[in-house]
Amino acid sequence: MHLPDMIEAKKRTKTNEANIYDYVFTKIDESLVGKKYFVRTYGCQMNEHDGERIKGVLESEGLTETDNIEEASIVILNTCAVRENAHDKVFGYLGLVKKLKETKNILVGICGCMPQEKSVCDLIMSKYKYVDFMFGTHNLDQMVNVINESIKNKKQEIEVYSMPGNICEGMPEKKDSKISAWVDIQLGCDKFCTYCIIPYTRGMQRSRRHEDIVKEVEELKKQGYKEVTLLGQNVNAYGKDIYDDYNLANLLRDVDKTGIDRIRFVTSHPWDFTDEMINAIEECPHVMPYIHLPIQAGSNKILKLMNRSYTKEEYLNLYNKIREKVANSTITTDIIVGFPGETNEDFEETLEMVDKCKFDGAYTFIYSPRENTPAAKLKDDTPKEIKEERLHRLNEKINKYSNESNQRLLGKIEEVLVLNISEKDTSKYMGYTRGMKLVNIESNENIIGQIVNVEITEAKSFSLDGKVVK
Ligand code: 5AD
Ligand code: SF4
Repeated sequence: MHLPDMIEAKKRTKTNEANIYDYVFTKIDESLVGKKYFVRTYGCQMNEHDGERIKGVLESEGLTETDNIEEASIVILNTCAVRENAHDKVFGYLGLVKKLKETKNILVGICGCMPQEKSVCDLIMSKYKYVDFMFGTHNLDQMVNVINESIKNKKQEIEVYSMPGNICEGMPEKKDSKISAWVDIQLGCDKFCTYCIIPYTRGMQRSRRHEDIVKEVEELKKQGYKEVTLLGQNVNAYGKDIYDDYNLANLLRDVDKTGIDRIRFVTSHPWDFTDEMINAIEECPHVMPYIHLPIQAGSNKILKLMNRSYTKEEYLNLYNKIREKVANSTITTDIIVGFPGETNEDFEETLEMVDKCKFDGAYTFIYSPRENTPAAKLKDDTPKEIKEERLHRLNEKINKYSNESNQRLLGKIEEVLVLNISEKDTSKYMGYTRGMKLVNIESNENIIGQIVNVEITEAKSFSLDGKVVK
């Protein structure tokens, strides 16, 4: 058994260089071969991508996926720790899993970011004894071993490490889409925003080698993929840990040369966003003009308390520069309300920034204290109702600008990559514009996987309607 340790989780190595190794296949316990598995993923795109690896490994060991948990012999919850409600969802779901386990012999495991928290491990050990195994973000590639040990020893198997982190190349993946793929470019995070648990759950910032990334994109293109999304917690810091003169701008240009139709990248941090990168976005034909640029707060006092390393003036400068240089850009953001010490005046400054930026969209959250993060120790005396009211006021503003941004596209022709049948109306298709706007599309032909010209016929707050034009 190995339990996480938040002090270890904070440590960074002096050389800051990660060990890179290839995935090693291990035979899974015979009792699982030919059986069905059920994986449920919570959280960010990085976690979604890990979910694809979990499925890929299980498939490579002879299991098949089911989306009906009652058919499964093994259930894995791939969890998120970023806010308390992510925890609540998992613990709620575990109640259902427990009932199932009373009627059937199944294996239950938890992985992802939650096991990286000591308090979660303690709770699972004391109150959720029916959970068979847990592993964390650093030993995903050891999943089969952890499962095998839990079967062999017939006891709860907990293997969670807190460490700077390595890079495992070549894990099998069962991708959710055959059109658009995630590609990790950077793991972990060194920014240590005071509210955020990610640097503790996912380790130090470490970049993958650019040649490995380009090779992966070339391979995806060969397989027929139309789009890649380059993933990292702070993609603008890509390369800083391993190269002196190779950064995100170089990477975008190199990935662009592969000729894959669409390249996206998330998440950007204003701190490392250089002019060179803005130029690369504008100049590379395949790089999409969509930038997710979290502002988090609009008051300099709160930004400082958050350790965001920019002022609202610096953010606005960068924001305006991107708007000016990148034609038809879509810029979205993340905002936290109710951070400890946020006064009404501070919150008003956030609203002012939203008015100035007129974001195309935003994800908004109420601050959630996270175990062992610096902000969790700050005095927080704003009542819950006030925080909720702030969130409500913020959302009204965000929705207004998001609607306006969509209205501007009404009657326009947009290039849309069609990903699937529309969830809302199965007689339609759904896809995204270059600027990452969701469009539900009328078409007589099956257009899945194609980039089509779509006339926008209706604009709503969160989506567009359109029809294919030749
Ligand atoms: N409380 C609320 N929101 C948070 N985020 C990260 N940590 C917290 C927290 N403790 C938000 C940030 C980040 C997004 C992924 O989640 O806005 O950009
Ligand atoms: Fe959640 Fe952060 Fe982990 Fe992603 S990295 S799953 S957002 S805690």
